[in-house]
Amino acid sequence: MKNNLYTSRLSKSFIGQGMFEILNSVQSLERQGKKIYHFELGEPFHKTNSKIINSLITSIKSGNTKYTSSFGLYELRDKIRVSTKNSRGYYPDLEQILITPGANSIIYFLIKTICNPGDEVIIPNPGFPSYIAACNANGVKIRTLNLTQKNNYQIEISSIKKLITKKTKLIIINSPSNPLGVIQNKKNLIEMYELIKQNNIYVLTDEIYSRITYNNNEFFSISSLDKCNKHVIILNGFSKSFSMTGYRIGCAIGPKKIINKMRLLVETIVSCVPPFIQESCTAALSLNNDLIKKNNLDYLKKRNKIINKFNETNLDFVIPDGAFYIFPSLKKYNITGENFCKKILNKYGIALVPGIFFGSQGKFNFRMSYTTDNTSLDKALDLISKYLHEL
Ligand SMILES: Cc1ncc(COP(=O)(O)O)c(C=O)c1O
Repeated sequence: MKNNLYTSRLSKSFIGQGMFEILNSVQSLERQGKKIYHFELGEPFHKTNSKIINSLITSIKSGNTKYTSSFGLYELRDKIRVSTKNSRGYYPDLEQILITPGANSIIYFLIKTICNPGDEVIIPNPGFPSYIAACNANGVKIRTLNLTQKNNYQIEISSIKKLITKKTKLIIINSPSNPLGVIQNKKNLIEMYELIKQNNIYVLTDEIYSRITYNNNEFFSISSLDKCNKHVIILNGFSKSFSMTGYRIGCAIGPKKIINKMRLLVETIVSCVPPFIQESCTAALSLNNDLIKKNNLDYLKKRNKIINKFNETNLDFVIPDGAFYIFPSLKKYNITGENFCKKILNKYGIALVPGIFFGSQGKFNFRMSYTTDNTSLDKALDLISKYLHEL
């Protein structure tokens, strides 16, 4: 009899996100009683604001526990229209806005919506691992846009030009970036927009860290040039700026025909996003800016502390302008990020992420997510520095 009990060809290329594997292994070390300093997940340690939590509880208690429109609640999408106008200079139409189960899912939904198997997607290297995972899971070909430290990890338009072929469907960009904390400059983004227009391709601009910037470093959204009408799709969410990682909700803004198709995927997979979670996001967008300013100041102080300490070592790094990551290179120590992370976790309980998880360009790097309390940060910085001197 024919054996049909095998997994699909495509499933062989599913890779998920390596960070969650690290989380599983450090949690198992913790259960064995080992003290762990957590720098592995991109997760704010600040608690979710009490107004957001209260709005969620009130919403559940008042019975908002039913299905909603698969686009998302009107009130939330209307708030997103206004915040887009305030931050990016234009009002998207309501039909351009889709509420999604987590922001991460937007990457998969978009690729599924616009690409045929064999089409090509350009992604940054180093870049957020879900870009690779979502391309693999959709059977599209990855072309990597190498970002280099010597160019401060800025996108080089000449490099993109070399990667574009007849099969290119999409370019993914991320500013401020995970794992680099780098903000892409406006001039490059304007040039890039011209390029994608000429070549009739889409750009997914991952702006999940757009509210987390330091020193008034200017964040510019490429979407301002297109108003998300033709070429540009925004990925955004609440996880990072509002410390809501476990709520699993995101928001896509894009051309109506794309958003409508992505909506059908939301319907197919989860039907809709829980209404009480959506209401808590409406509450988040109703807060004034003080919370974000306060958190950003905290990240800035932590960043400066790290830079001061790392400046006493032979680590090479670009100073982050936003998000809460630093991505130092260990080249001068002649040790790969993977080896370093394994050893320092075993020896001192410091959980970092090997740079290779973000692409081949990160082979000699590690990512440190500085979203921990100050006491743990001070202690861990001393231990990292001690360990580097021992190498
Ligand atoms: C660059 C980037 N995009 C998207 C996401 C996904 O965010 P969410 O947790 O809201 O799905 C993350 C989360 O780490 C991220 O770093």
